[in-house]
Amino acid sequence: MKDKLISSLDLLTKQEVDKFLNTSYIGRNILHFDSIDSTNTKAKELAGLDVSHGTLVISEEQTSGRGRLGRQWSSPKFKGIWMSIILKPNLDPTKASNITLIGAAAVINALKDFGIKAQIKWPNDIILNKKKLGGILTEMSSKLNLTNYIVMGMGINVNVLLEDFSGEIKNIATSLRIETGEVVSRQKFMASILNHFEVLYEEYIKEDNFKGTLETCRKNSILLGKEIQLYIKGVLVTAKAVDIDGEGLLIIEHMDGKVEKIMSGEVSMHGL
Ligand code: BTN
Repeated sequence: MKDKLISSLDLLTKQEVDKFLNTSYIGRNILHFDSIDSTNTKAKELAGLDVSHGTLVISEEQTSGRGRLGRQWSSPKFKGIWMSIILKPNLDPTKASNITLIGAAAVINALKDFGIKAQIKWPNDIILNKKKLGGILTEMSSKLNLTNYIVMGMGINVNVLLEDFSGEIKNIATSLRIETGEVVSRQKFMASILNHFEVLYEEYIKEDNFKGTLETCRKNSILLGKEIQLYIKGVLVTAKAVDIDGEGLLIIEHMDGKVEKIMSGEVSMHGL
């Protein structure tokens, strides 16, 4: 009886997830928590200590999950994937933001394995049927041109129900369960993300090959070809999203035809 209850919780422990992994180092060391403030905060604490490259910090719930721009991230217990990967690459700090795109492409590829076609709202939102399914928060520590560590935090609403979202989030967020009507295995889905992540990460770090990630980000972009609104140095600008360049930057065309490359920022779209 107890075993049945535990298996129905679909826990994200090393013991349960390991069998679905085919990575060599991503997620091979899993630090699993029942409840924690934020896996990113914990991962950053640990990254400064002696934890191995690829270590995963995961929690069944977060009590102070963090999103970009100081927002809160709702992380109900046993219903999503709230995880952070600790990376210690030999990478110029200016390129660290590309880890976000690698994470986003890994999620898109994993969803494809599950028969689900989602989109990326550059640089860090995962969108399903026009609503937010997940997000990525990449944080790092660097000194001069050396990266000490990168923490890539990812939140995916897997089996979250509409009533789990509070207030206005109900209108803008969704989950795999809400969209498919089915309970999805968090263990299998998380392993699939990690498997895809390692492939794309290896290409980028070892071969300086960003093509696979970029192709996925472009092909599944919800922004490209559309009119978007974004803040540039605090000013709200309307422009057309034209492309994502080889460095992962968003290329926009202003109303007067001027073309500009955007590093990262808050992009919004009409109707989204
Ligand atoms: C966003 O879209 O604003 C990014 C959301 C990132 C949420 C994840 S959940 C796991 C990790 N820990 C956190 O506190 N945040 C990230």
